[in-house]
Amino acid sequence: MRIFSGIQPTGRKHLGNLLGAIDQYVAGQDRGEALYCIVDLHATTVPYDPVELRERTLDTAALLIAAGLDPERCIFFRQGDVREHTELCWLLCSVTAWGDLNRMHQFKEKAGSERDLVSAGLFLYPVLQAADVLAYRADEVPVGDDQRQHIELMRDIAERFNARFGETLVVPEHRIPAIGARIMDLQHPDRKMSTTGGSEQGTVYVLEEPAAILKKFRSAVTDSGSEVRRGEGKEGIGNLIEIYAAVTGDDHEAVETRFAEARYGDFKTAVAEAVTERLAPIRERYAELRPDEATLEAALKLGAERATEIAAPTLADVRAAMGVGPVGS
Ligand code: TYM
Repeated sequence: MRIFSGIQPTGRKHLGNLLGAIDQYVAGQDRGEALYCIVDLHATTVPYDPVELRERTLDTAALLIAAGLDPERCIFFRQGDVREHTELCWLLCSVTAWGDLNRMHQFKEKAGSERDLVSAGLFLYPVLQAADVLAYRADEVPVGDDQRQHIELMRDIAERFNARFGETLVVPEHRIPAIGARIMDLQHPDRKMSTTGGSEQGTVYVLEEPAAILKKFRSAVTDSGSEVRRGEGKEGIGNLIEIYAAVTGDDHEAVETRFAEARYGDFKTAVAEAVTERLAPIRERYAELRPDEATLEAALKLGAERATEIAAPTLADVRAAMGVGPVGS
């Protein structure tokens, strides 16, 4: 079983990233051969600052290791260090329909009314994401719910490639967790928690101080009822139940039973405490790891070497199947 996932180095990582994705990356290390990549090339598809990109990549590397990724037990690397990703992206463009890219929700959201002005990279973003996974012939892709459409497209691309050029690529499956796949903004429970589209007050960062976490949960939007229960019109409290369940490893019903007699205020405090307890060790580890940039860079470099060993033979097969370059290139 080969597992692959990628994460952006932009923005500060939040509770949605941790519960929807990073927790699954950590678990994946015990389930198979796991590859995890910080996608710096994807980050260049929106306006960005080159110096900051390097900084944020190291921030993300330190955070993932602090959260439990072990560069000795997985292949952990930076996307831009492995040239096979960009080459495969181009080659896969030949089996990707323009219309499919134009229908991608994330492209529509990010481009908004500026569709003619955004970079071509933003449009091709899902093809690079397909290349990330297909270069390793990965079987499984752990992600949050918002990546569902991107994974569907990469499956289509792999199937179309195999149909057109012969069986070459593995068609991967997504792995979306039953709990924590869609953590919502605490202020706007109808929107996903996000550094780009969410509210500052409704987004809880992995490295946030306990006092700030408590404040954010205490001011979370709920409904006018009083029962700690999921249901129609109770999206805010439902989101808090989801977060509590994901952080403690309980299921939804167990959380509802435990807090059956609780008032909203007490439940909010309990969620804040559970989250703080979960995040504290990550924050401490991060503070130790982040200053040692040489060690982080060395880990990423080693990861890129190991990743290249797997991706290069796939690229050789893809080139051969497509008739690109001389025979045996
Ligand atoms: P990114 O960096 O936006 O997010 C990283 C992971 O966090 C998940 N996530 C969430 N999960 C639950 N609730 C939320 N509110 C929430 N917000 C984000 C995302 O689903 C994701 O799994 N395009 C990808 C990066 C990527 C990739 C790949 C992923 C590039 N190549 C190959 C898988 C395979 C992205 O922008 O993730």
